[in-house]
Amino acid sequence: MGKHLIEPKDLSNDEVIELINIGNSIYANPADYSHVCNGKILASLFFEPSTRTKFSFDTAMIRLGGHIIGFADADTSSAKKGESLADTIRVMNFYSDIIVMRHPKEGAPKLASEYSDIPIINAGDGGHNHPTQTLTDLFTISRYKKTLNNHTIAFVGDLKYGRTVHSLIKTLAGFNSKKFILVSPLELSLPQFLIDYLKLNYPHIEIQIARYLEDVIHEADIIYMTRIQKERFFNEEDYLKLKNSFLLDKEKMKKAKNDAIVMHPLPRVNEISYEIDDDPRSVYFEQSKLGVYIRMALITKMLEVGDYAIS
Ligand code: CP
Repeated sequence: MGKHLIEPKDLSNDEVIELINIGNSIYANPADYSHVCNGKILASLFFEPSTRTKFSFDTAMIRLGGHIIGFADADTSSAKKGESLADTIRVMNFYSDIIVMRHPKEGAPKLASEYSDIPIINAGDGGHNHPTQTLTDLFTISRYKKTLNNHTIAFVGDLKYGRTVHSLIKTLAGFNSKKFILVSPLELSLPQFLIDYLKLNYPHIEIQIARYLEDVIHEADIIYMTRIQKERFFNEEDYLKLKNSFLLDKEKMKKAKNDAIVMHPLPRVNEISYEIDDDPRSVYFEQSKLGVYIRMALITKMLEVGDYAIS
């Protein structure tokens, strides 16, 4: 694995499986890992809002025995005074051992990595990539479905702007998925370059485009819901037209497989009815919990501590 994690392809399949194995080990025996990051500092630089990613990384580092510095609002940093990202990263290199950053601009973590001697982890860049959400998703799938291979996955919602889908679909394709069902309004379709990429590199995977979830839900092993990304729209009117496009409710869940799982990177706004939260197939809150363990595994790998310590 390279020094930085900027996009999902920075990890090979073997490295993903290795991280999942370490995540399972940490889940089973957290006390064994509670001091592996003693004396280490994680800088958490969030130029865009977050609940799960920021606080699951913070929790992960604290549970590994390390410390956190950083900001959840870039307006409290010198970015507000006009400091460049490159200068911020150069300076944070003196203060920390690893940097986790989220930024609204696509490519910002890649740029940051060019100015950093310490590892940079992309915690989401615009509508581009979200590789640690992908790790969280893969960890969840592996725990509930026992394998990452041969699934039919329905991706539902904002497939145009949703960086979690863009990251996950490329990675799952590499694990021999059976079929991808893309359910979205026409305006929020998966970008054509991604469809072309999938068709070129994974011609054996069937791709179906659907308008209504109720028409295809019965086929899905995994129902991956996503929020309409209000912050990526150029005008309010377009958002309002699409914001209630999909709602997964009890009626639709009656048509889903008994062993299907419903995932969502969260936050949800109006895509999943609260009435299905108690359905055993709804795993989205457990998914956000599992994000802590896989991020603990990732930090230990990138800092070369714990199971990854160089002897
Ligand atoms: N899944 C996810 O990225 O959530 P946050 O925006 O709350 O970090």
